Amino acid sequence: MDSSLPILSLAAGAVAATAAVAPKLKARIELSRAKHRSLTGHSKMSRRVARLIPFYEFDVGEFFRSDGAPDDVATKRRDGFFALSATYKQRFAKGREMTAEAAEHISDLQFTRAYRVPFQYSRLVRENLGVGAFMQSSSGVNVTDIDGNSFYDLTGSYGVNIFGNDFYKECIEISEQRAHALGPVLGSYHPVVADNVRRLAGISGLDEVSFHMSGTEAVMQAVRLARYHTGRTHLVRFAGAYHGWWGDVQPGVGNPVSPHETYTLAEMSERTLHVLRTRRDIACVLVNPLQALHPNGNAPGDSALVDSSRSAHFDRAAYSEWLKQLREACSERGIVLIFDEVFVGFRLAPGGAQQYFGVKADMVTYGKSLAGGLPIGVVCGKRELMRRFRDDRPADICFARGTFNAHPYVMTAMDEFLSRLASPNFRAVYNGLDDIWNGRARELNDMLSAADLPVRVDNLSSIWTVSYTAPSRYNWMLQYYLRAEGIALSWVGTGRLIFSLNYNDADFAEVAKRFVAAAAKMKTDGWWWQAGGLTNKAIRRQILKEMIASKFGR
Ligand SMILES: Cc1ncc(COP(=O)(O)O)c(C=O)c1O
Repeated sequence: MDSSLPILSLAAGAVAATAAVAPKLKARIELSRAKHRSLTGHSKMSRRVARLIPFYEFDVGEFFRSDGAPDDVATKRRDGFFALSATYKQRFAKGREMTAEAAEHISDLQFTRAYRVPFQYSRLVRENLGVGAFMQSSSGVNVTDIDGNSFYDLTGSYGVNIFGNDFYKECIEISEQRAHALGPVLGSYHPVVADNVRRLAGISGLDEVSFHMSGTEAVMQAVRLARYHTGRTHLVRFAGAYHGWWGDVQPGVGNPVSPHETYTLAEMSERTLHVLRTRRDIACVLVNPLQALHPNGNAPGDSALVDSSRSAHFDRAAYSEWLKQLREACSERGIVLIFDEVFVGFRLAPGGAQQYFGVKADMVTYGKSLAGGLPIGVVCGKRELMRRFRDDRPADICFARGTFNAHPYVMTAMDEFLSRLASPNFRAVYNGLDDIWNGRARELNDMLSAADLPVRVDNLSSIWTVSYTAPSRYNWMLQYYLRAEGIALSWVGTGRLIFSLNYNDADFAEVAKRFVAAAAKMKTDGWWWQAGGLTNKAIRRQILKEMIASKFGR
C-alpha cells in the first residue's frame, strides 16, 4: 500500500476545509472592516471598556486645576463657580429643594442629575449647581420654572416641540373636546383614525400604518416585521445612531446584554455597502437621519465632553448621496430600508426626511411631534411588509398589539396636528427654513468669533450642537452659564439645542446675545485658560493616567 495516501487525503481534506471556511472567514473580516473604527462602532468592546473605568472624583482642591492650571487661574475659576452657585441657590431655591426631595424616589432624576457632566466633577456640580426639574408654564418660546424664572426654551421637549408649545397646547385642548364623547374607550377606533391613516399614507408615500405608544415601540415593530417578511435575522444600525432604548437597537453601553442579531456598521462607508451587497442574513437597515449632523458619532451629551474633540458638520448633498447608495444596495438585496424619523420627521420638511433628502424608504417610523404633544409611535410601510400573517401558513403570524395603541385622545390630537400641517398657510412655515436656520447659526458664530470665544455651533436646520475650538476639560461648564442667562437646556447640555420654528428674529437675537454673554463670563472666569501646547490628545492621556492611578491606588 502507498504510505503517502493518508497524507494526501489529509492534505486534500485540509484544502477542502479551508475552501469551505475561507468564504465565511472573508465575510467575517469584511463585516469587521465595515465597523466604524471608534468604540462607537464596537459595541461589545465599548461595554468592556466602560466596565474598566474606575470611579474617582476631584475634591474642591483638584476640581479647578485638573488641567494643570496655576493658582491664580484656579482661584478665578473657584470664585466664578461659587458665585454661580450662589446665584443658583437664590434663583432656583424652590425648584432645587423639590428636585432633591423628588430624586429620592425618581430613579430617572438620580440618573440625569449624575450624568450632566463628566463623572469626576459630578458631585461638586450637583451640590452647587443643581438644576430644578420642575416647570410651571410655557408661552411663546419661553418656559417658566417653579421659582418664576423665565427661560428661552432650547430643550425642544426631546424634539417633540417643532411648532412652539402653544401649538401643542391647542392640539391637546381640541383633541380633548373631540374625543370627549367617546372617552378612553380602547380596542375600537375613534372615527378620526381613518383620516389620520389617509394623511399618513399620503405623507409617507407608503400603503399601511400601525399605531404605537412610543418611538421605541414603533422601531421594534418595524424591525420585527422586516425579520418576519425577509426570513433573515439581522438588523443593521449605524454607529452612534439612537433608535430608542429597545435592546436590539442599543447594543453597547447602557444595555446589560449583547444583542446577537444586530450589526453596528459605519455610516457613509463603501465597506458597509459591500457588506449589504454580500451577506445573506440582513433583514433591514435602520437609518436615523439626525446622524447627518454627526455621522457615526454618539448623541452629543455633555457628560462625555471630556475634551474639545466633539465635532459636527452637516452636508446635505453628501448625506443625500449616501442615502441614495443605501437605497440601491437595499433594493438589490431585498433588504428593508427603514427611516427612523421619530426625531426629524415633520421638522425638516412636511414630507419628512424622505422628502428632504429625496430618497424613499420601505418603512418609516414617526413619533414625538406627530400626536400634537401626546405620546405616539407610528410605523408606515409598504403593504407587503406591514402584513402580520400569511395566507398559506395560518399559524405563522407576526404579533403586535398594545393596550393604548390608537387611543382616542391621541388620535384626535394627531388629527389636529395633521390637519394643520395640511393647510397651505401653515405649510409656509417650511419655506426657506434651512436658509433661516443656517443664517442664524452663521450669525451666532460670527458673534462668537468677534468676541474671541472658543465656541461654535453647527446645525441641521433647527437642531443645533455646540463645539469647542480650543482644547479644554471644562467645556461642560457652559451649560451652567447658559442657564444663568435664562436659556433652558435639556439634561444633555450643550450637545443638543433644539429650536422650535416659532422663534422669530427678535427671539433669536436675544438668545444669541445671552449665549455670547454666557460664554464671555465663562471665559472671564478662567475656564478656557490654555496651557501652552495643551491638546485634546494630551487631555485624554491625562485622564487615562488618572484612571490608572485610581485603579491601582497610585
Ligand atoms: C430616532 C429616534 N428613534 C426612536 C426614539 C425613541 O422614541 P421614544 O422616546 O418615544 O420611545 C427616539 C427618541 O429620542 C429617536 O430620536
